[in-house]
Amino acid sequence: MPFSDSPGPIGIFDSGYGGLTILHAIRSMLPQYDYLYLGDNARAPYGSRSYDVVYEFTRQAVSKLFDMGCHLVILACNTASAKALRTIQQNDLPNWDKQRRVLGIIRPTTEVIGSLTNSRHIGVLATEGTIRSESYTLEVRKLFPDIHVTGVACPFWVPLVEYNEFESPGADYFVEKRIRQLLQKDPQIDTIILGCTHYPLLMNKIRQFTPQGIQIVPQGEYVARSLKDYLQRHDDIQRKCTEGGRIHYLTTEHPQKFKENAQIFLNEDILVEHLDLR
Ligand code: DGL
Repeated sequence: MPFSDSPGPIGIFDSGYGGLTILHAIRSMLPQYDYLYLGDNARAPYGSRSYDVVYEFTRQAVSKLFDMGCHLVILACNTASAKALRTIQQNDLPNWDKQRRVLGIIRPTTEVIGSLTNSRHIGVLATEGTIRSESYTLEVRKLFPDIHVTGVACPFWVPLVEYNEFESPGADYFVEKRIRQLLQKDPQIDTIILGCTHYPLLMNKIRQFTPQGIQIVPQGEYVARSLKDYLQRHDDIQRKCTEGGRIHYLTTEHPQKFKENAQIFLNEDILVEHLDLR
């Protein structure tokens, strides 16, 4: 069935709650638009899942968001951006609807990195899937061949956030371990990209264990700036995004559970509906 041609909200997709950090930054910069947030919480985390599974889950989510009226969907998830974006753009979009767009968040983050590092040695902390895909290394190399990229996967960080344990003393061990590992691999690193949308929630702990002088780069602001620029350059898409500042939340988990956990990220009362993706 063809998707509706009427304008609709901007779709924001993540495996769970992490994309809320991106939504927050986007809303701060572009409060005028309507947004439809979808968290696939029932199947999160995506971080250690195979390419095929992440692609299939992400494809289902994007198709559903198009179905619900979005013309533009942001994959507010590095794992999905690393493993599914290219295939969806190249194989699915031409069959679904050539006028719709899906954008990821890795490119906007790597674009700014050249102006942030002095030592030209950067670190990336991300999920196993994102690190294994080497997406950051490849993207940075294309834009800034002189920058040396070292990645470390942080397998327990997403569950710490999803289970609301990110401020707990237990989190210290996992955070310290990965930062130490990263800086041992490359002591010249002066900039660390948080290449997972969940990680800004661990910022207090990350700062605590990162030596002074090393900057930590969350993605939200850069993704928001890049989206603003994209909409300015693509009038055809911009005209398909409704305005009104409304936000609708969908989760594949129980809405009440999402609502409670989302407070951690949003600090506001929200309305949430359940959605089945299968
Ligand atoms: N928040 C997602 C990311 O940016 C992944 C979390 C997960 O493992 O599901 O990579």
